[in-house]
Amino acid sequence: MDMEAAQKKVQELHEKLNRYSYDYYVLDKPSVPDSEYDRLLQELIQLEEEFPGLKTPDSPTQRVGGEILEGFKKVEHKTPMLSLGNAFNEQDLRDFDRRVRQAIGDDFQYVAELKIDGLAVSLRYEDGLFVQGATRGDGTIGEDITENLRTVHSIPLRLKRSESIEVRGEAFMPKRSFERLNESKIEKGEEPFANPRNAAAGSLRQLDPKIAAKRNLDIFVYGIGDLGDTGVQRQSEGLDLLDELGFRTNHERRKCETIDEVIELLHNMQEKRQSLSYEIDGVVIKVDLLEQQEKLGYTAKSPRWAIAYKFPAEEVMTKLIDIQLNVGRTGVITPTAILEPVRVAGTTVQRASLHNEDLIREKDIKIGDYVVVKKAGDIIPEVVNVLEDQRTGDEKDFHMPAECPECESELVRIEGEVALRCINPKCPAQIREGLIHFVSRNAMNIDGLGERVIAQLFKEGLITDVADLYELSKEQLIQLERMGEKSVENLLRAIDRSKENSLEKLLFGIGIRHVGSKAAKTLAQHFETMDRLQNASRDEIIAISEIGNKMADSIVTYFEKPEVMTLIQELKGHGVNMEYKGPKLAAAAESTSYFAGKTVVLTGKLEELTREEAKEQIEALGGKVTGSVSKSTDLVIAGEAAGSKLSKAQELNIEVWNEARLVEELKN
Ligand code: IVH
Repeated sequence: MDMEAAQKKVQELHEKLNRYSYDYYVLDKPSVPDSEYDRLLQELIQLEEEFPGLKTPDSPTQRVGGEILEGFKKVEHKTPMLSLGNAFNEQDLRDFDRRVRQAIGDDFQYVAELKIDGLAVSLRYEDGLFVQGATRGDGTIGEDITENLRTVHSIPLRLKRSESIEVRGEAFMPKRSFERLNESKIEKGEEPFANPRNAAAGSLRQLDPKIAAKRNLDIFVYGIGDLGDTGVQRQSEGLDLLDELGFRTNHERRKCETIDEVIELLHNMQEKRQSLSYEIDGVVIKVDLLEQQEKLGYTAKSPRWAIAYKFPAEEVMTKLIDIQLNVGRTGVITPTAILEPVRVAGTTVQRASLHNEDLIREKDIKIGDYVVVKKAGDIIPEVVNVLEDQRTGDEKDFHMPAECPECESELVRIEGEVALRCINPKCPAQIREGLIHFVSRNAMNIDGLGERVIAQLFKEGLITDVADLYELSKEQLIQLERMGEKSVENLLRAIDRSKENSLEKLLFGIGIRHVGSKAAKTLAQHFETMDRLQNASRDEIIAISEIGNKMADSIVTYFEKPEVMTLIQELKGHGVNMEYKGPKLAAAAESTSYFAGKTVVLTGKLEELTREEAKEQIEALGGKVTGSVSKSTDLVIAGEAAGSKLSKAQELNIEVWNEARLVEELKN
């Protein structure tokens, strides 16, 4: 084939493949069998190999994911990517409607769109060619994730018309893809994603675009960055224009004349929610006419012409198959509902804590009942109530046992507490839970030692207390289920590394009753060494303002036990650090770090660090992390979807960083 013929063929293949791909991914109406698409794609790949000059950035072959990147470049958004104010109930919506009427009168329409639960991205096109894709970041500066977005089939690499335009939309992972991804992660022994939103965000933040390419991501676009020269006069026309250009928009949108119509639509959508193939977390309501939008204007972070109605926590019905008892680290017995697996707010739920017997009585829960389940704060599964009219008479009452389900010693109810407790200090369940706590993230943070491994080690008798962890050998570990050479090496390295932890992690890890991670930090800062804390009197401990009577008593009693002395000696013998390594109390403010003496507020979702980690590191550098923004705040770290704290910061002219900037500064 000569060059000219090849060129013609390549163009023909582009057109066909783009059309088939559009039919499949955007219209959701496949027009040819997959095999036909694959055949044409192979043909194109071969031609491009033969004639490399014909390979263009908008070629359908470019969706497989290119070179691994070193990092993401920063991208400044020409028009800021704002977020939306929230409405949680009808009243909030009616208030919004009233504000709109006050500003522009009664002659207007709303357009209601689904609020897709993914992450906001911006897509930039020059003369019809996709040139850059970015995350929202802090709204002003995002990250360049062009190569990952290129792998999303519903994002056109070339528009149907040669426009230069910046569009915005929500990238997401469909429910099916999310389930499959998590199944395979679990199979490989990896941690599954908590929900499709995290999975989508995690996929788009991979430096290897080939990973994103395998994740089946999708997008709905919902807006245009700058409508300036599009001739569009309404949001609804903007969406139609996006359709015409070849984008995937969501077609569940509807124009509404009144807020009552909007409210009716919300109810319908809430019912439809489960049957959709993607997650939504609400409905966005926008004033349709742009001229009226402009009149309404903006607050510091969000438009006054739009609002996001958030659905209340999703509730689903399932069967309560059994009630099991868990023995916690402190001996508290917790009844746990075992449920027929059911999807709630993006994940499959099979267990829910029932807390204590009183609660079971109060809600009249029986084994075999059909129950309503929701996730409190969209995270922790909870049994809301029993569906009494579903009862058949075969349901069984549940009674707390008199003895510990693990060690059979008699349970006691401590005065003033609802919980039943096993008070046998040798109870294997308590020891096992204590070990799990010791290795957990906020404690000694030993990677690779999850509940499963600890349970095995304990069962095999390889560890009986936390000091034994430091005596584990390669030969012992390799015998465990699902433990390869490589994981053993990593694990031993993680155990070794934990010896270097600063004192507060050890103090929290050994599990002194009432001493949480925050108190452990305070104690470590004040006493600086384990020896000094061990020898401190009750009065000395109580002199610290953050430490109360109950905790002081508990600390003194703890260190009086001879077995505790032995344990600490053993840990010392293994080389476990017993000193505080963070900034000294008085010296913190003089430290040379950027954060020294500064008051910092964290808001929004962080992706690279957990909130806890960010807080810990900022504090270690002498900063103070507080919960709310005020005039005395020096810096606000705004993650994805930061809300009112960010707008407050902007109002008060406080410095705002995104997470990437924080990570960079922490590294320095
Ligand atoms: S409009 C200035 N429309 O919700 C208006 N946002 O809390 C900006 N979202 O950051 C957003 N579906 O990530 C808009 N149909 C939709 C949306 C939508 C999801 C997300 C978006 C935004 C957040 C606002």
